[in-house]
Amino acid sequence: MNSPRITPTLRESIRTLGASRIREVANAAIGREGVLPFWFGEPDAVTPDFIRAAAVAALGAGDTFYHHNLGILPLREALAGYLAMRHPPVDVSRLAITSSGVNALMIAAQALFGPGDRVVAVVPLWPNVTEIPRILGAEVERVALEFDPASGLWKLDLQRLLDALTPGTRAVIVNSPNNPTGWVMNRDDQKALLEHCRGRGIWVISDEAYERLVFDGSTQAPSLLDIADPQDLLMVANTFSKAWQMTGWRLGWLVAPAATVPDLGKLIEYNTSCAPGFIQQAALVGMRDGEESVRAFVAQLAQRRDALVSALSAIEGVEVGPPPGAMYLFFRLAGERDSLGLAKRLVAEAGLGLAPGSAFGPEGEGFLRWCFARPVEQLEDGAGRLRRFLAGGAARSGGD
Ligand SMILES: Cc1ncc(COP(=O)(O)O)c(C=O)c1O
Repeated sequence: MNSPRITPTLRESIRTLGASRIREVANAAIGREGVLPFWFGEPDAVTPDFIRAAAVAALGAGDTFYHHNLGILPLREALAGYLAMRHPPVDVSRLAITSSGVNALMIAAQALFGPGDRVVAVVPLWPNVTEIPRILGAEVERVALEFDPASGLWKLDLQRLLDALTPGTRAVIVNSPNNPTGWVMNRDDQKALLEHCRGRGIWVISDEAYERLVFDGSTQAPSLLDIADPQDLLMVANTFSKAWQMTGWRLGWLVAPAATVPDLGKLIEYNTSCAPGFIQQAALVGMRDGEESVRAFVAQLAQRRDALVSALSAIEGVEVGPPPGAMYLFFRLAGERDSLGLAKRLVAEAGLGLAPGSAFGPEGEGFLRWCFARPVEQLEDGAGRLRRFLAGGAARSGGD
């Protein structure tokens, strides 16, 4: 008997998710020789030796089993110790280890958002942060940072953000230091935001993935953890990916009100059950012994940022400034309107791999994102390619 033909149809909120425009550019270049890849947000160096050795040792010792949903206790205790050196103490009962930073964001979203919930996000923003709530049927309203062409830097109009946070709003999501702009939220704005949300029962989700990557000589960006009470409606997502250069390992964490953590443990059970033990063992060593390596990485990033800013500033039509945090330059080319088309042409014609600004939302149109976590010679080579490409102006405006 012939079975009826059923069209495979996914939920509306899944079908309408945006595809990654960074991938659209990068995938088209796969197999092409000589392209300089600055499109993804990851450092060029492999994870430091001592962290890799700890993973190998844990595997050698047979750590191949399931673990606690919230992460192995020694890692949660090490994390509490790490946080206590930087913020008011955070009790272990507020911590959950997650299988990456993006998984931390997903767990927080699953815990908080349902169909029709209104979520406000400060943008432009790494698309995962705005698409995850949409998977759950929430509606994301965007409040845009403003670009100052004179300084090449981004600013928040705090009042606009507060005005958008009306009673009934479920949550606000802030990513500081911000991917892609490098913007860092200052302490006064954080205080005003927290106070405003407290009065209205609005959750704050703070994505602090780039917390350690700041270039003003301090060792961390202002964190909501510094000013919040343990009972505040606050979830802070973080990751081992950036500061410890562990992107491929997929390990992160969430700080949440203690009363919510047992339920978060259930969500982790139904998502991944737990993070792999040998990876947690390695992260524990990274967190315990890695301070020198984190600082050396940030110092190197600062040099790379300065080298790229100075190379790009010398190119006519490029509006760029030194971002205070993260590892990207998000710069504008005067008159540019189609960043996706431009990024594709830069790959094809100049061998230069950048992320189109529109990948981070309509506010990013006209901009390009350049990850500067790569050697200075490569950054300078890339800047030379951009300069030569732009000098052939006729070719550039030809478009496709
Ligand atoms: C803003 C932001 N948040 C979170 C993450 C999560 O990183 P991971 O999933 O590698 O831990 C990233 C990674 O690029 C990011 O840019």
